[in-house]
Formats: sequence, structure tokens, C-alpha cells
Amino acid sequence: MVAPQVAPYVIDTEPYYRPVANEIALFEAAYSVRMPVMLKGPTGSGKTRFVEYMAWRLGKPLITVACNEDMTASDLVGRFLLDAGGTRWQDGPLTIAARYGALCYLDEIVEARQDTTVVIHPLTDARRVLPLDKKGELVQAHPDFQVVISYNPGYQSVMKDLKQSTKQRFGALDFTYPPAAIETEIVAHESGVGHDDASRLVSIAERARNLKGHGLDEGISTRMLIYAASLIAQGVDRIAACEMALVSPITDDPDMRDALEAAVTTYF
Ligand SMILES: Nc1ncnc2c1ncn2[C@@H]1O[C@H](COP(=O)(O)OP(=O)(O)O)[C@@H](O)[C@H]1O
Ligand SMILES: [Mg+2]
Repeated sequence: MVAPQVAPYVIDTEPYYRPVANEIALFEAAYSVRMPVMLKGPTGSGKTRFVEYMAWRLGKPLITVACNEDMTASDLVGRFLLDAGGTRWQDGPLTIAARYGALCYLDEIVEARQDTTVVIHPLTDARRVLPLDKKGELVQAHPDFQVVISYNPGYQSVMKDLKQSTKQRFGALDFTYPPAAIETEIVAHESGVGHDDASRLVSIAERARNLKGHGLDEGISTRMLIYAASLIAQGVDRIAACEMALVSPITDDPDMRDALEAAVTTYF
């Protein structure tokens, strides 16, 4: 039974998710003991799709918060609002999830400031409570509540990283780009291109991923491959599609562009 307050967050239709290893069983086991879960991996590697799929599979509502550095604890927890009738408390997304029983997905958690992130601490240990200091209320988390965060280890600096005290509250699942055969399947499924085009795109990405750290900050993601494939499915010339979706977005460096273009023309 899902509370009416969170019913709009229930995912009705099964999201397409192609498992890569044993992540579904691990997440289910973690959820059954309400262990907070951290999804670690580069952008565009399937983290958001996975949490949507798991919420659907578990039949639980999913409340997603895209974290950013301007976000305050009040944005998560809630605040008093002034209206015609006076002041009234409005729960934030974290409070709604905790109170009524939803998965709360804090996407790109490191984008939030550390003094914001700490509000999840009492919810992510044995206490499972959320103090609403301004309101003077202690919310005991609903039995269905779970915190899931995503974290890209790629672009962390010392200034922008999770505190150890935050990290150690989570079990982590590693997301890397899937093995070629699986990634080909995903790209073909999501874009509608044939297996052969999808497979060539994946080969280009594998080449480009080897350049990571040698002038590229992040490799070509599964998401980018799906973009390129979708352009091809629209009838765009293959080289032009790769240029637009795979090469141009990730580098401004002429040498790196040449290297990526060479990878494209090797396969198309
Ligand atoms: N294992 C997977 N199964 C199905 N689709 C996937 C998978 N991995 C990646 N995708 C596709 O790649 C896109 C980007 O993944 P997403 O979950 O948004 O990445 P992230 O949240 O890691 O940045 C998704 O919209 C989906 O189309
Ligand atoms: Mg995401």
C-alpha cells in the first residue's frame, strides 16, 4: 500500500533496464534491510535508469532530487511558507519520502554542499529519523523509506567530495560502461538502429575510453552512444551523427578531436 501523498511518484510502466552483473539482486538485498545505497560511476552509465527500474520492481515510489551547490538543507527538509492564512509548513522532498515511504534518490550528491548533505545522516543510520529543527518535529522514517545517492568518482576534488562520515553510511554499487555485447544491445534497443551500427558505435566508444586521462576527462558514455544512434536512426549521415553526438560535446582540443574523428572513420 502506497500512501496517497507519494502515489504520484509510483512508476507504472516497467523501465527498460538491461542488467550488467548481479546489481539487481544486490540492490534487492540492500533494500530488504533498508541499507542506503550509493550508485558509483561516470555520467551516462545507467545509474538513473537503474534506480527507476528498481523502484518499479519493488513497487515503491521514487522521489528524485537533482543536487546542486545552491541547494540548502531547507530545500531537502522543508520550510515555513507565508500565505494568506499565515505561515504553514511545507515538507521538502526528503521529508515526504521519509514520512510516507518512498525511495529518495539524491542525484549527483557531491554537487550539494557538505552542510546540506549532513541532513541525511540521522536517516542513514540505525536511528532512521529526520529532525525538522525549525518545526520542532522528529520524523520517524516510514518502513518503506530508503536513501539512494549517485556519485561520480571521476570529477571529485578534495574540496568537492563526500565526507567519510557520509560515505560510510552506504553500500555501494559500481557502474562502469557495460561489456560491448550488452552495451550494443542497450544502444540498439534505446535508439532503434540495427545491431551492426550499434556495435560499431560501441567500438568507437571503447577506443575513446582508452583516451581518458590522456586528454579526455571522461569517456564517451552509453548516453552519448544512444544520441549518436538516434541521429542515425533519423537518417543522419553516420559520420555527421558521430561528430555531433560523440566528438564535439566532449573536447575542444584539436588534437583530441583528430584522435576521436580517426576512431569514427575506422568504424564508419
Ligand atoms: N543497463 C542499462 N539498461 C538500459 N539502459 C541503459 C543502461 N545503461 C545505460 N542505459 C541508457 O543510457 C542512458 C543514460 O543512462 P542514465 O541512467 O541516465 O545514466 P546516469 O544516471 O548514470 O548518468 C539511459 O537513458 C538509458 O537509455
Ligand atoms: Mg543520472
